[in-house]
Amino acid sequence: MRSSTAAWWRDAVIYQLYVRSFQDTDGDGVGDLQGVISRLDYLRETLGVDAVWLTPFYRSPMFDSGYDVQDHTEVDPGYGELSTFDELVARAHDVGLKVLLDFVATNTSDQHAWFLESRSSRANAKREWYIWRDPKPDGSPPNNWLAMWGGPAWTLDPTTGQFFLHAFSPRIPDLNWHNPEVGQAMLDAAAFWLDRGVDGFRVDAVPMLLKDALLRDNPVSTSPSAGLHKPMGPYGAQQHVHDSGDPGIHAILRELRSLLDSYGEPERVMVGEVHATEWTDWATYYGSALDELHFPFNFGLMHVATNPTSVREVIKASSAAVPAGAWPNFVLGNHDEHRVASRAGAELTPVLMMLLLTLRGTPTIYYGDELGLPDVLIRPEDVRDPWELGVPGLGLGRDPQRSPMPWTGDPNGGFCPPHIRPWLPLIEHHSSRSVAAQLDRPGSMLSLTRRLLGLRRVREELRSGSQSPWAAPDTCVAYLREHAGQRSLIALNFSDHSARIRLPTPGRGHIIGSTNTEREGAKAKESIELAPYEGCLVELAGAGAVQPVPSSITAHTRGEDYPRSHWR
Ligand code: GLC
Repeated sequence: MRSSTAAWWRDAVIYQLYVRSFQDTDGDGVGDLQGVISRLDYLRETLGVDAVWLTPFYRSPMFDSGYDVQDHTEVDPGYGELSTFDELVARAHDVGLKVLLDFVATNTSDQHAWFLESRSSRANAKREWYIWRDPKPDGSPPNNWLAMWGGPAWTLDPTTGQFFLHAFSPRIPDLNWHNPEVGQAMLDAAAFWLDRGVDGFRVDAVPMLLKDALLRDNPVSTSPSAGLHKPMGPYGAQQHVHDSGDPGIHAILRELRSLLDSYGEPERVMVGEVHATEWTDWATYYGSALDELHFPFNFGLMHVATNPTSVREVIKASSAAVPAGAWPNFVLGNHDEHRVASRAGAELTPVLMMLLLTLRGTPTIYYGDELGLPDVLIRPEDVRDPWELGVPGLGLGRDPQRSPMPWTGDPNGGFCPPHIRPWLPLIEHHSSRSVAAQLDRPGSMLSLTRRLLGLRRVREELRSGSQSPWAAPDTCVAYLREHAGQRSLIALNFSDHSARIRLPTPGRGHIIGSTNTEREGAKAKESIELAPYEGCLVELAGAGAVQPVPSSITAHTRGEDYPRSHWR
């Protein structure tokens, strides 16, 4: 059983840092590692997060903004050098920040030396590092699988007359994890970074790591996009049962996890990108002996954030699915999804930040969401994302959520020099949305985020306390967090009408956090009236038992070393 001091990642708030868009220091309009170093104080002191997940900075042709890795153990010259990375880790650790890296293991760039060798001849020693098959007798691809970004998942390579497999695009062919040499090479890559002091990984595209060894056709989907979290064009016309979610993935994760565990304390953490149709399936990625991912990212809220009924349902269903002894987590945005402020609207965004930072489970904040940044408008000539280029016009493009961080009101927002064109345009009106503009504005999104992070840091009940739903109108989401007699009520209004929520016995408390800062410090008695789109965090007076909500709650604890959520 782990002690809570070892499990730093349970208490941590993770910040997903999109390196390419964070801070440019060498004047090429693209963020870099030195830029991250220059902003460590912002992350730790100003904002107050505990860990950063750095998106890929490995050598890459940048077809997919670095997820197309050309060399897993080299820093791309556009981002810096290995020594810059070492300095980053050392400086981050000095200020108390953990560093997680993106582990991209499903595919590589077609410019990776492994693939160049593999495609050179059928007899090459690396041939079986990727997935090659003969055409069918009629010359068509080996099966019906589709690439996510358009077209078949197979491309014929004229050099050897065989097709190679690629789940996303021919520019990023899939590695063959059925070949143990691939596993070993990727473990070596992981060890390379662990030896340099990283605190863990975010494993990319986990369910796509391994495919059906028999390469069976996917069945046609009876309802397109069923099981997918968004309409995905022709890709949605299949059920992805054979090109994703192969049971053999669990053994891969166990091997990787035991490598991480071999580094001892502090624990090296492994989180992963898992989109799954069913919560029960999602939960399997913790491992049956909790020996796989420390947690699979919980993207549930990301897809329902505007609807309080669905939000309650996601919290309940995902909490129930987390295996005994495992730890929940929540995500509101990432580099693959439209920004929360655009999905949910500016009014609801602060309420959702309060939700993210007060739920039981490790939160991950996407860079710029602390400023409430919406998507940026991308003109057709500025499109960079291969998904948008491959399947245009369906709203699948991911450039809008990847715009440069606006630090100041300067032209280019202090992201890069004023006379340089940033790799993607900055958000409109970046000056008033910038860190500088929001920092001293009490009602700003940045101030709210900092306040909530501060409260989470000092209040044990928000980090590790139990969680139970609290009776509220349908338009609201409300819950109690409790630890050792310290209780907080979180009351969130998702509607444009005011709403009243009763306080639990003894009916007294005071507001310690609110989306309306003027209310902070105010007393609450018997009930709390929420303005439209208001969220409040109420510290409840007195110890004593939490009054259960009739019928809707069954107090439920099946945790081992940690109290389990009561959400039922
Ligand atoms: C993952 C990443 C995404 C990338 C894809 C292909 O889904 O999150 O950004 O494009 O893998 O590597």
